[in-house]
Amino acid sequence: MYYSDEIVEEVRSKNNIVDVISGYVRMQKKGNNYVGLCPFHNEKTPSFSVSEQKQMYYCFGCGAGGNVYSFIMQYENATFQEAIKTLADRASIKLPEIEYTEEMRKAASEKTILLEINKEAAKYFYYSLRSEKGKIGYDYFKSRELTDETMKNWGLGYSNKYSDDLVKYLRSKGYSDEMICKVGLATRDEARGSHDKFWNRVMFPIQDINHRVIGFGGRVMGEGEPKYLNSPETPIFDKSRNLFGLNFARSSKKGHIILCEGYMDVISMHQAGFTEAVASLGTAFTSGQASILKRFTENVILSYDSDGAGTKAAIRAIGILKEAGLSGRVLDLKPYKDPDEFIKNLGKEAFEERIKNARNSFFFEIDILARNYDLSDPEEKTKFHREIAKKLCGFPEEVERNNYLEAIAREYGISAESLRKLVNTVNNQTGLATPVRPRPKSGIQEKNNPDEGRKKLQRILVTWLSEEPEIYPIISKYISASDFTEDLYHKIAEKLFDGIVSGGFNPASMVSMFEDEEEQREVAALFNTKITGLDGMPLEMQNKQDREHALKDLVIKVKENSYEYYSRNLGADVNALSEVIKGKKQLEELKKANFVLKN
Ligand code: UTP
Ligand code: MN
Repeated sequence: MYYSDEIVEEVRSKNNIVDVISGYVRMQKKGNNYVGLCPFHNEKTPSFSVSEQKQMYYCFGCGAGGNVYSFIMQYENATFQEAIKTLADRASIKLPEIEYTEEMRKAASEKTILLEINKEAAKYFYYSLRSEKGKIGYDYFKSRELTDETMKNWGLGYSNKYSDDLVKYLRSKGYSDEMICKVGLATRDEARGSHDKFWNRVMFPIQDINHRVIGFGGRVMGEGEPKYLNSPETPIFDKSRNLFGLNFARSSKKGHIILCEGYMDVISMHQAGFTEAVASLGTAFTSGQASILKRFTENVILSYDSDGAGTKAAIRAIGILKEAGLSGRVLDLKPYKDPDEFIKNLGKEAFEERIKNARNSFFFEIDILARNYDLSDPEEKTKFHREIAKKLCGFPEEVERNNYLEAIAREYGISAESLRKLVNTVNNQTGLATPVRPRPKSGIQEKNNPDEGRKKLQRILVTWLSEEPEIYPIISKYISASDFTEDLYHKIAEKLFDGIVSGGFNPASMVSMFEDEEEQREVAALFNTKITGLDGMPLEMQNKQDREHALKDLVIKVKENSYEYYSRNLGADVNALSEVIKGKKQLEELKKANFVLKN
């Protein structure tokens, strides 16, 4: 960071979050908080809440959250440096002048520099496309029927034929070869020194959800391998957690997201009005991407190429969507290869029609399966029916299984009765329909994931403490920061406890300890969990005695979880033994303890 912690904190504390956010979101006071429609996802009933006391915001729908800096960064697509300038101006605070010496650049956060380099490079490619040398690129985009406006919106560019133009330009802006290579725009070797990675390609800047350029894809002019060259993974480019086009698609309000394969597909779909289109980044769709989509929608429509590779990729993606609890449907683009070609030939109304008729993913899988069998041959046909039965066993819930069974029987002219018998036979042989399939670890937070359950209890306790610091003396005999076993939770708990003891407790300042948007969301979630009993009942309306019981149950549960955690880690964690000994004693005392709240 360029600014001292003191300045960062001063600017934050002089910008009341309620005043700032009121300038962007219409809110109503409700209890201790202000609530409104979340500006970060599409919703009809308000789940966005701002707490004046905590100086934080949090959306119970999409999990967006943080302090006043996070809000400006998220809403205005600003970097931290830009956000602090905006807020300092607003509060008439003069920020110290910063001279960008080489020394300070090194000291400044690496990510900020990498983002700056990408922004410069994107500008450079952008102007090249519109220059004499870039005519070949411009003509290419025109031949793909992109308008000037589309090219501008997506910041499309061109990397020319000289192999070190960009490196020279970026050096002239004061960036080191090391950083230029680190962000993936150049490679270095003995013979040639640093040279541009991209040349003679039309360039697609890849932006994160806040419109920051995190990488590039470049398509070769004419024939050549690879057709698309993409930036490598870098500290700012995580391919498994970003999607091309999501910065625009997030506000499309169509009620679904269309997932396609290529950059050109996304751009031509947006140009035709399908602003809900996104694509993965030259790699297969991942579970990380699925959980990001889940913040914006429940419904994902796959629009992959209609060839063999596209179909295979679609089947894979369906599995990942299911795993994430998203419903997937599949577009039929035949007789065209991809959405770009389809729209060019049949137009947007026809495409709209295909969206409406997108095939449920289960039927799609069965259709694909059917291609492997010659259904005029009785033996093959039987095998096919057996495979259907196997797949039907994948629905653990009987009602759902039956609904699919009947629908598929109707479509394929099979007698529902005999298909049902077949399902039962398969089921008896394999036990497939018993819902005990172990789920592969996917990084997706699920309600019944035990880790998630443990974390939730810790979040409730942190939120409770932050709203009622008076409970601290009651629980501090039993609970310490080490009971918060997650790394980030642990850091926060330490600060929180120190703050309560010293009277200087301030949740919003803790958000600034973390640079990453994901981490800021987690912090916001920690301080904004609904306080409920273990049974999920909200506690605000309950009487003192019930609340006392609920607090005690919660503390016991958190303690038990940490006790189990350390018992499991005996030998692996040097603190584990003393935590286990201490934990056992505290648990015994806890069970006998009597929690008394003031009101
Ligand atoms: P396609 O080859 O289907 O691209 O690859 P496309 O969009 O139809 O390309 P045009 O229309 O010929 O220009 C789909 C996506 O797969 C990735 C890219 O992200 C591309 O958009 N890809 C493809 C690569 O990363 N590298 C390649 O060599 C090819
Ligand atoms: Mn394609």
